[in-house]
Amino acid sequence: MTVPTPPQTPLVDTLNAEMASAWNGADGEDWVAHADRYDAASAAFDPALLDGARITATDRVLDVGCGAGVSTRAAARAAPAGHATGIDLSAPLLAEARRRSAAAGLTNTTFVQGDAQVYPVESGAYDVVISRFGAMFFGDPVAAFTNLARGLRPGGRLALLSWQELARNEWLLVLRRALAAGRPLPEPPGDAPGPFGLSDPDHVRRVLAAAGFEAVDLAGLPGTVRLGADAEDAFGFVSGLGLTRGLLGGLDDHARRAALADLRAQMAAHATPAGVLFGAAAWLVTAHRG
Ligand SMILES: C[S@@+](CC[C@H](N)C(=O)[O-])C[C@H]1O[C@@H](n2cnc3c(N)ncnc32)[C@H](O)[C@@H]1O
Repeated sequence: MTVPTPPQTPLVDTLNAEMASAWNGADGEDWVAHADRYDAASAAFDPALLDGARITATDRVLDVGCGAGVSTRAAARAAPAGHATGIDLSAPLLAEARRRSAAAGLTNTTFVQGDAQVYPVESGAYDVVISRFGAMFFGDPVAAFTNLARGLRPGGRLALLSWQELARNEWLLVLRRALAAGRPLPEPPGDAPGPFGLSDPDHVRRVLAAAGFEAVDLAGLPGTVRLGADAEDAFGFVSGLGLTRGLLGGLDDHARRAALADLRAQMAAHATPAGVLFGAAAWLVTAHRG
């Protein structure tokens, strides 16, 4: 296959410019620093993604919002005579993905910087498009999935993981409640760019149908998110999350100390011999290009 040549300056749609700046700034740096923890946090959902993608030995796979590339490497291993390409907005995460792929001795991976919504994906170049919690952030999801469908050969498959609604994700509910410190926080809508951007099944079906996908299916995956080995480890991790930084930013010193104490107590309350575990629920979304 032709390995894509990245444009000199990554093209980013104006709707995704803020996201690009966050993932090239503090959010990206935090993910690089804690890549193993992020990988472990949602590892319970990895087998479902691989099952849903049904990658064969010669497949050419595109991994959207690949981050530090854990799913790109899994795809490359599943396609030893094929290729796995990771695309992401974030230069620091892509550098980490390249480093990890080389360290793993993989020779069939490529990582490109770009906005998957507008990146000039080669038409029909891929057998499978996957995403591990990386496709919920598009400012214009129909445009993005239309672009990704174009990159698939006819009949090519899509398999992605996204979070279900906030109410089914105890790990975020608990974090938000502690950090709200009594303030009312707006409910994240199920169709706006962000962690819950593909949480509403009707929205997902509408977007994918409009983008040219068929046989759209959402399978609910109950699971857990593991935030650390023990309470202190988990507290250290969650206190650096972008969400935490954002919510603490609006509090005075007293409220901030109380919110952090609450957060620490929540981590202790969820500590188990297998780590600090919270309830979580994802969708495995599968479809194919018509
Ligand atoms: C929640 S992280 C998931 C990363 C990785 N898939 C994982 O499971 O660790 C979301 C990723 O999507 C990327 N992303 C967000 N919007 C994007 C876009 N329009 N095009 C490409 N990547 C995007 C971010 O840079 C970030 O690395």
